[in-house]
Amino acid sequence: MMDLGLQDKIALITGSARGLGRAIAEKLAAEKAKIVITDINDALAAATAEEISKKYRIETLALKHDVASEESTKEVIKTIVNKFTRIDTLVNNAGITRDARLMMMKQTDWDLVLRINLTGAFICSKLVSKQMLKQNSGSIVNIASVSGLMGNIGQANYSASKAGLIGLTKTTAREMAERGVNVNAVAPGFIQSDMTHVLSVEATDKLLAQVPMNRPGKPEDVADVVLFLVSDLAKYVTGQVINVDGGMVM
Ligand SMILES: NC(=O)c1ccc[n+]([C@@H]2O[C@H](COP(=O)([O-])OP(=O)(O)OC[C@H]3O[C@@H](n4cnc5c(N)ncnc54)[C@H](O)[C@@H]3O)[C@@H](O)[C@H]2O)c1
Repeated sequence: MMDLGLQDKIALITGSARGLGRAIAEKLAAEKAKIVITDINDALAAATAEEISKKYRIETLALKHDVASEESTKEVIKTIVNKFTRIDTLVNNAGITRDARLMMMKQTDWDLVLRINLTGAFICSKLVSKQMLKQNSGSIVNIASVSGLMGNIGQANYSASKAGLIGLTKTTAREMAERGVNVNAVAPGFIQSDMTHVLSVEATDKLLAQVPMNRPGKPEDVADVVLFLVSDLAKYVTGQVINVDGGMVM
């Protein structure tokens, strides 16, 4: 097996109790990284962390975390550094949707989506980067979306948050490049998860019609690309947005 340089590395994945975050956690766990599962849903985070620990025989830590809160994020980072002394990988994965056409969109739903998807990633990146700069090493991956690149009907708030995340990725990458920290984004297309299971058959068909590969992606498809970006294979890759979308955007 190829050594990706992840053994005993400390990986913090936000919103990883389920879905894409969990799949990312499992990929890194398979490479023997130590995994910190954080989520607003602490009961599910604890169950997921226990399952992953048993399955891959690695150390995991589950923490309750609201990415939109600076106080909560500070507490999470303090706990991780106290336990493991470092943070090698941050995956800003936590995200939500509150879809409605622009004319009908409530400002509270605009604010909430921006707060969790974009401000949350800002707060986590800012606080974790202090630790990574001390170490002179680290990797950050932001989970954006093709919605942030091409727009999507009913997702003004979500696509704005994901487009913002791409801007955050590029600036953070420039600021941290000299200090041994690479920062990239992954833009998934239509991936099967609890987030997309709630879509109507009509909405699902419309999305699929835009996918040249003619099938939805799996969380593991996204996790494979994140694994590459946080591994030694991507040491000279920074500021990039990699679409994982079956060809939706090309
Ligand atoms: N599923 C897709 O098709 C798709 C496509 C493009 C991008 N994405 C992005 O991938 C990421 C994961 O999506 P998913 O499909 O796994 O969704 P999901 O809803 O299954 O999982 C999201 C997780 O984030 C957690 N979370 C929500 N708010 C939080 C907060 N304030 N703090 C911490 N955790 C919080 C949830 O409890 C949940 O466990 C999101 O950023 C999403 O925007 C998903």
